[in-house]
Amino acid sequence: MLVKAGTGIVVCAVANEAAGSSEEFAILDCTCASENILLAAEALGLGAVWTAVYPNKELMDFVRKELDIPQHVIPLNLIPVGHPTGDEKALDKFDAKNIHWQKWGGDF
Ligand SMILES: Cc1cc2nc3c(=O)[nH]c(=O)nc-3n(C[C@H](O)[C@H](O)[C@H](O)COP(=O)(O)O)c2cc1C
Repeated sequence: MLVKAGTGIVVCAVANEAAGSSEEFAILDCTCASENILLAAEALGLGAVWTAVYPNKELMDFVRKELDIPQHVIPLNLIPVGHPTGDEKALDKFDAKNIHWQKWGGDF
């Protein structure tokens, strides 16, 4: 996908730049940033997809090596960004059964 797209963004998490110098928080922050990148690409009429890097150690090391990323920096994903060749619609996966309503103070 990256080769065809021509451009890609590697979102990286850095523990000591996150709240409490926490690796978990850094990953959560970067997950939100990744979603924003995906939404922004869509809004610009581009195509983008999250491709997995973290937590696969081999993929993380590969990306670190290719891009000369230091060991303490976690490459979370690689987001190829390009111009869509088709007109694919998002799948509608909404299922009301997956939403659990709870009255404040009531039973679950
Ligand atoms: C953590 C994570 C890892 C993913 N890794 C890949 C991947 O390696 N290759 C890929 O084509 N898509 C990957 N995706 C994208 C999903 O396959 C899927 O396209 C995306 O979650 C949107 O799902 P939907 O369009 O079916 O709702 C990943 C998504 C997430 C959240």
